[in-house]
Amino acid sequence: MDSRLHDAHGRRITDLRVSVTDRCNFRCQYCMPADGLPWLEREEILSFEEITRLVRVLVSIGIEDVRLSGGEPLVRREFPRLVGMLSETDGLQDLSLTTNGYLLERDAEALVENGIQRVNVSIDSLARDRFFQITRRDSLPQVMRGLEAIAAFPQVHPVKVNAIAMRDFTEDEVLRFCDFARSTDYQVRFIEFMPLDADRAWTPDSVLTGAEIRALIEAVHPLEELPREPHATARVFRFTEGGGEIGFINPVSEPFCADCNRIRLTAEGKLRTCLFSVNETDLREPLRSDASDNDIAGIITDAVWRKELKHRVNEPGFIAPPRTMSAIGG
Ligand code: 5AD
Ligand code: SF4
Repeated sequence: MDSRLHDAHGRRITDLRVSVTDRCNFRCQYCMPADGLPWLEREEILSFEEITRLVRVLVSIGIEDVRLSGGEPLVRREFPRLVGMLSETDGLQDLSLTTNGYLLERDAEALVENGIQRVNVSIDSLARDRFFQITRRDSLPQVMRGLEAIAAFPQVHPVKVNAIAMRDFTEDEVLRFCDFARSTDYQVRFIEFMPLDADRAWTPDSVLTGAEIRALIEAVHPLEELPREPHATARVFRFTEGGGEIGFINPVSEPFCADCNRIRLTAEGKLRTCLFSVNETDLREPLRSDASDNDIAGIITDAVWRKELKHRVNEPGFIAPPRTMSAIGG
């Protein structure tokens, strides 16, 4: 495999996140404002053909894994058809999805038929009223039906559940999530709250760290850390008493930038080399003029070379990027 995707800090880039829409049917407190955001116009968004071409070019120069996200990817019309188009990319090793699960019951079968390999579902609370509070939608039962619908396909494995951890909210969820992880096949992972929320409510203190959650768990259930896979963002633990696994993604308290192998493509075709990038590289204009695959590959390799060394969330003077998570793609 050709591998031209390196940055100036010696990191090889093999993982691409693609946001297929900036729209979402939820309004999670840590991401979107209650009234939503000004959405992109249809013609601003990359077509399925444009996304497929970019992914083909990116895979030809070193991308191995692609994760589809949003906004909420399943609100994009005919999304499973895009999965089918991408799954035919020569050389692509892994095609996965991050979703809020609301439309998974409807789409699980079509996604599997079209070749989705792994699915992560975001669930921040297992209590219906608290789920409503955080997502501003009373949809926990619908999401749980979606989760079960996708988990019914053994070829989609593992199914992971991601919970954003916030101080004064997630503490009460921790043991419920442990019971859930121990009584099901889902790998539950807590993700630290990052300053990518539209309401700008994030403060350093609002981050409930992975270490704090671990301490809450270990007061009740002893944990043993499992060996970490290369470039894994999660630290995964098993319950010593048996049954299930629990993971921690700690981008704020234990940044993993030195090992980062990721880039992102937004719904309107901007390449972002860091979640917290303040500069991005437009790929839509070259796509829509008559740039060759080779020209586009050149633009991408130049941008990747300049990938940010690390995020500066913990440094004085940190400036959050103008985009919210929904407009970047988790
Ligand atoms: N901090 C951390 N994770 C976030 N996500 C959305 N906003 C934030 C934030 N401010 C997550 C969602 C989902 C993924 C797409 O990004 O919960 O799992
Ligand atoms: Fe939608 Fe995901 Fe943002 Fe929640 S976190 S509002 S589900 S895009």
